[in-house]
Amino acid sequence: MSRPPATPTPTARIAFVVAFIVVFVLGLFVWPLLSGQEIAQPLEFNHLAHAEYDIECVDCHTYVFTGLDPGLPDNAVCFDCHEEVIGESPAELLLIEWLQREEEIPWRPLYLQPAHVFFSHRRHATVGELECSVCHGDFGQMEQPPTSAPRKLTMDECIDCHAETEVDDDCTSCHR
Ligand code: HEC
Ligand code: HEC
Ligand code: HEC
Ligand code: HEC
Ligand code: HEC
Repeated sequence: MSRPPATPTPTARIAFVVAFIVVFVLGLFVWPLLSGQEIAQPLEFNHLAHAEYDIECVDCHTYVFTGLDPGLPDNAVCFDCHEEVIGESPAELLLIEWLQREEEIPWRPLYLQPAHVFFSHRRHATVGELECSVCHGDFGQMEQPPTSAPRKLTMDECIDCHAETEVDDDCTSCHR
């Protein structure tokens, strides 16, 4: 019985290097997907293509001035204009396939706050008269869906703006 050598054999060295590379690659590409940092949408939606035709945010995000939550559009909204092909984009043809299958497009939310946070769009966009871009970045200019929220509000950011605008900041106004 001989004892294992004190210095690694060439095979062990190679195994170590390979393991290192595998872990590195997993960390770089797979982990962000698993941990949900990259969100892919089911369809290449183009905000700019719609803004250029002066289609308003509220035309698709129906409840943004009246409700807590603006909503992501359902197929009926798209169907109003895209029942038939109006442009030359392959993405529009894919859209029409979804509409013909009568299957709701599962848009994936980017901004969701934890359930204990209370946030009202009516209060901010209508009563407070804040532009969407203050909190969301310039969505109207986006040609492709972003894979993560350009800016996700943290508690500190909410409180900083409230301090500037002299909004009352009890814990219970945001946590109900
Ligand atoms: C023609 C319909 C349409 C119009 C008009 C529109 N949007 Fe959207 N919006 C969508 C769709 C579809 C998505 C989901 C795909 C994506 O993220 O691009 C979305 C996603 C978003 C999101 C991300 C929400 C989330 O949690 O995923 C924001 C923020 C947003 N839109 C803001 C705006 C603003 C601001 C405007 C006006 C400048 C606007 N949208 C105009 C259809 C529209
Ligand atoms: C008020 C009318 C209107 C509504 C509602 C609307 N669209 Fe459009 N959409 C347009 C117009 C106008 C164009 C530009 C056509 C062109 O010139 O290519 C367009 C273009 C597109 C394109 C191709 C853009 C590109 O450059 O790739 C896609 C994809 C698309 N729309 C998806 C949607 C989806 C998804 C919805 C529903 C969430 C929706 N649209 C709602 C009017 C509308
Ligand atoms: C003061 C900051 C602020 C402003 C201004 C604002 N939003 Fe939002 N928006 C948020 C926050 C925070 C969320 C996540 C809310 C939640 O999870 O309850 C959100 C979520 C959304 C969503 C996702 C909805 C969903 O169902 O997933 C859309 C779309 C959106 N906002 C559109 C808009 C549009 C359009 C405007 C302008 C008319 C606007 N927002 C103005 C902070 C803001
Ligand atoms: C860019 C500025 C800004 C940001 C960012 C902002 N708010 Fe506000 N918020 C306001 C303004 C202005 C009002 C007061 C509107 C009015 O009633 O006149 C307000 C009001 C509120 C109210 C009602 C206060 C009360 O006492 O009834 C709540 C709740 C609230 N915000 C939650 C949030 C949360 C949660 C966030 C972060 C996710 C946030 N806000 C981010 C500007 C902001
Ligand atoms: C202006 C709105 C606002 C006010 C006021 C506010 N919060 Fe928050 N709070 C948030 C938002 C938005 C989040 C979720 C985002 C984050 O974690 O930054 C949050 C998250 C939290 C969390 C969870 C943190 C975590 O890591 O999961 C705790 C605990 C909390 N708040 C406690 C408080 C207490 C205690 C107060 C009063 C001193 C308070 N909050 C006041 C908006 C607010």
